Amino acid sequence: MDLTEVKDIEAFDRWLGEHNVKGIWDRDGDSTDFEPFLWKWDELYSALVKAADFFAVGFGGRRNINLINPTVGRRRPTHTMSGSLQYLMPGDVAQSHKHMATTCRWVINGDPGAFSVMDGEAFPLLEGDLLVAPPYAWHGHYHDGEKPMIWLTATSELLRLNHGPAGANYPERIQPADKPSGWFSGGPPYRYRWPETYGALMALKEREESDPYDGIKLDFTNPLDGGPTFTTMAARIQLLAGREKTKAHRHNSTTIYQAFRGQGVTVAAGRRLEWSQGDIFVVPPWAIHQHENLTGDDAILYSLSDDPVWRGMGVYFEESEPAEDRAGAPLE
Ligand SMILES: [Fe+2]
Ligand SMILES: [Fe+2]
Repeated sequence: MDLTEVKDIEAFDRWLGEHNVKGIWDRDGDSTDFEPFLWKWDELYSALVKAADFFAVGFGGRRNINLINPTVGRRRPTHTMSGSLQYLMPGDVAQSHKHMATTCRWVINGDPGAFSVMDGEAFPLLEGDLLVAPPYAWHGHYHDGEKPMIWLTATSELLRLNHGPAGANYPERIQPADKPSGWFSGGPPYRYRWPETYGALMALKEREESDPYDGIKLDFTNPLDGGPTFTTMAARIQLLAGREKTKAHRHNSTTIYQAFRGQGVTVAAGRRLEWSQGDIFVVPPWAIHQHENLTGDDAILYSLSDDPVWRGMGVYFEESEPAEDRAGAPLE
């Protein structure tokens, strides 16, 4: 079509599209907004068990189910982070490999006979442990125990924007664990042990050191510098005491939560996400949110946030007790 024949804005927008340009007035498809979302543990767990019927772990070296938030355009739980549940059966060996993506692995169901070998050190996979691996750390997993192991793996999707060296498979199925325990304790690869995490939460509870928006909260800090777990992603854990209800706030970081213990509700952008043990849910950026423990027992939430990215760029924003949700308001 010739531009002289274009009589209205819709036709003009179409013409521009056909010529691979777009007017600033055309906001269609520009939004990075997405909705809160919750995955129920019962469904996730049944899917993992079913996956074990169909696939040996040899299929791609892993037996994983990826979390997909249907309101995020890129088949991920959020726009910046991926989330995936891995099911490792007794007898499984998951091929050692390495890649650019940093990983946080949160053990939901552990077994003393299951191990992750990272850069030559074997780490046991026990419930409530967090294992982290920096870019290009070799990692493979094997299971000589009894019960299936499940963990939530998260990686930073932002690293996909970086075209660094390719990853690789290790020349053997599993890298030999020839390093003594703790040999690289000055920095990741690293394991945060559940008894220590839980002990620290209990000590803070005793001292009543509670955050009004998050309850009792701990950062899994980088052992080298005390900063966030990674520059792209921070892993945290928080405890909501019996019946505790936090105040509402919002921030431009996004968070993936796993309800590790307890039962409660998180209201995000006006949506009620009712969670019980095992469920995974997502709070999008700039959504007003607050948490409530619905029982008299402690509730514990594990979480992953992309806030280190925005803090590092100097564009992290947080608003306490906002009166109304102005998210998505056009720029004046
Ligand atoms: Fe990997
Ligand atoms: Fe928050």
